[in-house]
Amino acid sequence: MSRAHSVELRRILDSRGNATVEADVLTEDGGFGRAAAPAGASTGAYEAVELPPGEAIAAARRLAVPRLEGTVHAGDQRAVDATLRGADGTDDLSEIGANAVVAISMAVAKAAADTIGVPLYQHLGGALRGPSSDSFPVPLGNVVGGGEHARDATDIQEFLAVPVGAPNVVEAAFANARVHGRVGDLFDDHGITAGKGDEGAWAPQTDDATAFEIVDEAIETVADDLGFEIRMGLDVAATELVDDDGVYRYTDVERTPDEQVDYVASLVDEYDLAYVEDPLDEEAFGDFAALTDRVGSRTEICGDDLFVTNVERLQRGIDDGAGNSILIKPNQIGTLTDAVDAINLAVANGFTPVISHRSGETEDTTIAHLAVATDAPFVKTGAVGGERTAKLNELIRIADDAV
Ligand code: PGA
Ligand code: ZN
Repeated sequence: MSRAHSVELRRILDSRGNATVEADVLTEDGGFGRAAAPAGASTGAYEAVELPPGEAIAAARRLAVPRLEGTVHAGDQRAVDATLRGADGTDDLSEIGANAVVAISMAVAKAAADTIGVPLYQHLGGALRGPSSDSFPVPLGNVVGGGEHARDATDIQEFLAVPVGAPNVVEAAFANARVHGRVGDLFDDHGITAGKGDEGAWAPQTDDATAFEIVDEAIETVADDLGFEIRMGLDVAATELVDDDGVYRYTDVERTPDEQVDYVASLVDEYDLAYVEDPLDEEAFGDFAALTDRVGSRTEICGDDLFVTNVERLQRGIDDGAGNSILIKPNQIGTLTDAVDAINLAVANGFTPVISHRSGETEDTTIAHLAVATDAPFVKTGAVGGERTAKLNELIRIADDAV
């Protein structure tokens, strides 16, 4: 094993034009890894703390870098991440900042993989892939969105294409792009103005009901053209809709928690939804359990803000039957080890892990490798836009054994 020789940090641009943290790690044997932290807009209250990048970098240089350089073995990710946590000393990483911590954690993993000359997904525990591999993470493609990701658009944050019947990851990625294109044409046909939101999804000036009809039609057309099953998914991001009184406030309707459960269950039936993320508030374990009871046998009820990639919150969800799926965002919890622990706990308890990007992204492709390494059934990458296609194209390269 090779020790970390140097850790350098800098501010770079993310896809929204905000500053984020990038880390470069060099090992003593010349392995190099570079990674950058993404950033959320509809962040959960229980996420690890992101600091202003300049502050995070200064704190990391002071507290973490001296403990890493010349000491930890880059190949021992668990020891690297324990060192980062020890250097920070808080549960929510508020001393150094989860943005600096996750960038370093991911960059060390890449440097370790480079040192021994294997692809990152293999270093992270995955079996070698090649064109013959028949399992791949199905990409969830955001085709229409609103909420915190776009002004004057839908209340529901994300309408997703889920190409469950795609024979391989290439067909799946192109199917999502095609649904995205078809949705744009349909908005045009209906005279609905649509810009694009933070993740490249169409941000139409229309209501949720119209968006459902258009996405449904686009998915059906593309599925017919391509000859495999594509279903619809949602990220309701319901925490952003709910007020202190527990009422879900949509543009033209209000729903009590019970009505919200009924509403989402009816959407699952009407649109045969394959996937529903954050249908309820981040505190609503009981309502998540009620919804999972009703529709969990035929769809994924995924907790994002509910679980925040945190094993303690996930354990509560497992105990309560709240959801049957967990979104995995490494920057939500801070290190790759924490993310892998959450994935392992999920899988051991029949919860589906979904590896995810953030609305603010960079060209970093770590999540593509993490999804393959852990054999995750789904990966949420967006459908179009350079920082989104960076992940999709990396998945295509992995399938082609070309990374
Ligand atoms: P965020 O949104 O990155 O802005 O939190 C993505 C999501 O809610 O899944
Ligand atoms: Zn979400």
